[in-house]
Amino acid sequence: MPEKARVAVLISGRGSNMAALVYAAKRPDCPFEIALVASNDPDAAGLELARAEGIATFAHSHKGMKRAEFDALIDAEIRKAGADYVALAGYMRLLSPEFVGRWKGRMLNIHPSLLPKYKGLHTHERALEAGDSHGGCSVHIVTAELDDGPVLGQTQVAILPGDTADSLAARVLIAEHQLYSRTLADYVTRTAVKEAASG
Ligand code: GAR
Repeated sequence: MPEKARVAVLISGRGSNMAALVYAAKRPDCPFEIALVASNDPDAAGLELARAEGIATFAHSHKGMKRAEFDALIDAEIRKAGADYVALAGYMRLLSPEFVGRWKGRMLNIHPSLLPKYKGLHTHERALEAGDSHGGCSVHIVTAELDDGPVLGQTQVAILPGDTADSLAARVLIAEHQLYSRTLADYVTRTAVKEAASG
């Protein structure tokens, strides 16, 4: 069994996608392990779950800090934890170009829409207002532009008559939890194969 890829997960709140990654990583054949869960909000609910699962955590409020300064602090913690990849999971912060550049090709994000549709916030409201037949979620590589990098995987979720943004969000979340762990697993496996081939 090759060494597992070490993933740092960044959260800002509930952390249900982080939890899905943590539980996926418990399978013996999962190609990644969670090295760190970090948050820009010391009160993020997800931190408690991570701690209970015995995962290293780091939390520091971004308030009063410059963006690049805060990102450098998080970056240092991620490196200290020996992470090879960063998975953004409900991390509601715009990232500095320096941080994005340091993790080029190694940082993934999950977004609750079928990208390139509905970048940014209020994705479910916008899908409903547009009269779309489906909402959904996407996992993509993080680049300097918000929610813009290459899409690695998507799941469509049918919109039901009478759906509200909340009811749609709840079903999309189920799809998110499955999509993220599978897409991350495929990505780290493909990257490891490429790296082995290039020596
Ligand atoms: C998820 O729906 C995630 O896709 C979304 O925030 C929620 C976080 O929930 N992310 C974004 O909107 C980022 N642009 P969670 O904390 O339970 O994983």
